[in-house]
Amino acid sequence: LVASLEQVEQSYIMVKPDGVQRGLVGEVISRFERKGFKLTGLKLFQCPKELAEEHYKDLKAKSFYPTLIDYITSGPVVCMVWEGVGVVASARKLIGSTNPLQAEPGTIRGDLAVQTGRNVIHGSDSPENGKRETALWFKEGELCEWTPAQAPWLM
Ligand code: TYD
Repeated sequence: LVASLEQVEQSYIMVKPDGVQRGLVGEVISRFERKGFKLTGLKLFQCPKELAEEHYKDLKAKSFYPTLIDYITSGPVVCMVWEGVGVVASARKLIGSTNPLQAEPGTIRGDLAVQTGRNVIHGSDSPENGKRETALWFKEGELCEWTPAQAPWLM
């Protein structure tokens, strides 16, 4: 019943500035908690431009890239690491499609957002990027290893 260590993934999840300003931080955290994933990192953070550029470096050639960098650095974000078996793909399902108008009701973007450029939340798109982004946004001492009391029921 208990997952082996190799199966446990990390996803870097971030409430973007619009989500923080709209008071959606608790709502987002609550959805991940209720699903049963484990929070191992959490901070409110003003993202410097260089970090935003590194995080979104694969999108550098896109026309929306400068707007995206301005948006992500426009105010504090809430950085999180969620851990669990299958957390990367599951988080993407909880988050919904990039364009909130196409995101299914029941998803975070589907329920809470309208515009792609203000889509409330980021979630890693692969286990590799989960690791890469966690290392990019958090220093090692900022992450916590802990065992939830209800672990046998969820893991
Ligand atoms: P992407 O990695 O394609 O989407 P996701 O966040 O769902 O993994 O794009 C990163 C962010 O870039 C996206 O959340 C919002 C922004 N973006 C735009 O502003 N316009 C666009 O046309 C696209 C595709 C993304």
